[in-house]
Amino acid sequence: MKKIGVFTSGGDAPGMNACIRAIVRTAIYRGLEVYGIRRGYNGMIKGDIYKMESHSVSNIIQKGGTILRSARSTEFMTKEGRRKAYEQLQQHGIDGLVAIGGDGTFTGANIFFEEYGIPTVGAPGTIDNDLFGTDYTIGYDTAVNTSLDAIDKIRDTADSHDRVFFIEVMGRDSGYIAIPCAIGGGAEIVMIPETDTSIEYVVETLRTGWRRSKTSFIVIIAEGGEAGSATEVAAKVQQALPHMDARVTILGHVQRGGSPTAADRMLASQLGIACVEGLLTGRKNVMAGIINAELVYTPFIETITKDKVINPQFIDMVNILSV
Ligand code: F6P
Repeated sequence: MKKIGVFTSGGDAPGMNACIRAIVRTAIYRGLEVYGIRRGYNGMIKGDIYKMESHSVSNIIQKGGTILRSARSTEFMTKEGRRKAYEQLQQHGIDGLVAIGGDGTFTGANIFFEEYGIPTVGAPGTIDNDLFGTDYTIGYDTAVNTSLDAIDKIRDTADSHDRVFFIEVMGRDSGYIAIPCAIGGGAEIVMIPETDTSIEYVVETLRTGWRRSKTSFIVIIAEGGEAGSATEVAAKVQQALPHMDARVTILGHVQRGGSPTAADRMLASQLGIACVEGLLTGRKNVMAGIINAELVYTPFIETITKDKVINPQFIDMVNILSV
């Protein structure tokens, strides 16, 4: 292997830049040429590809977003799109790829590998932490800390006004962001897609709290749950509790930005190195991850099809700690 390409795809995540930096520098350290592919699979299709040097990744370790830009490509989902992408890689002489992204990215990488066989190793880059094959994904720790910071501020005003705040966090269809936000943010209730929390339970918990002289409440709602969005949950609860003074905050894309935490920079650097070393030792069609402090490589197909189960004890913790 002589020339590798690196790209970021799907939703951006803090720490992606630290990972790009580690990949570029490890490749150069190992005597490889390294090419940046802009805007994920779209850039691969268009041939938006440039040679990267060590200085191309100077002063980016602390920056949020991704210097390679990102996109969710519909064209790459077609056979024709993937053929164009392959031709571009051939033209540039790229014989190995590093993909930084989440389940959509690895779904594409898996199909591409089956069709064209270009060795690809992935780094898990998503705030959702929903990939099997790693304890944590790059960007998750930062997103949780960003959310917690916002929740702390909401708590101040909730307390001043005796209000119930319904706060929606991201996660697509996973509760990984919601759980530490609820435990660390001292929430009374957490609702995640993986478990059923009924509106009746929310109503009862609030009533019980008021009886115990609690005056303000934080309810954390992960997007993607059956009960609906924070706005919908709040409206349903309000019907049963017309006197409740409620507000809804959707944290949204603020969770995707910002400077990565130390934990994310460390993880991104470790996994960036592991991706290049993986390619050099013949790994293909796998994602590098850290499980119990050990580096592991998991086939893409497993990272996207196997469930990463949330420990139900975390839900109990929210209940116990808000008594
Ligand atoms: O996968 C990361 C994520 O931020 C999810 O938590 C969220 O559901 C989705 O991306 C939002 O996507 P977009 O930025 O395309 O609106």
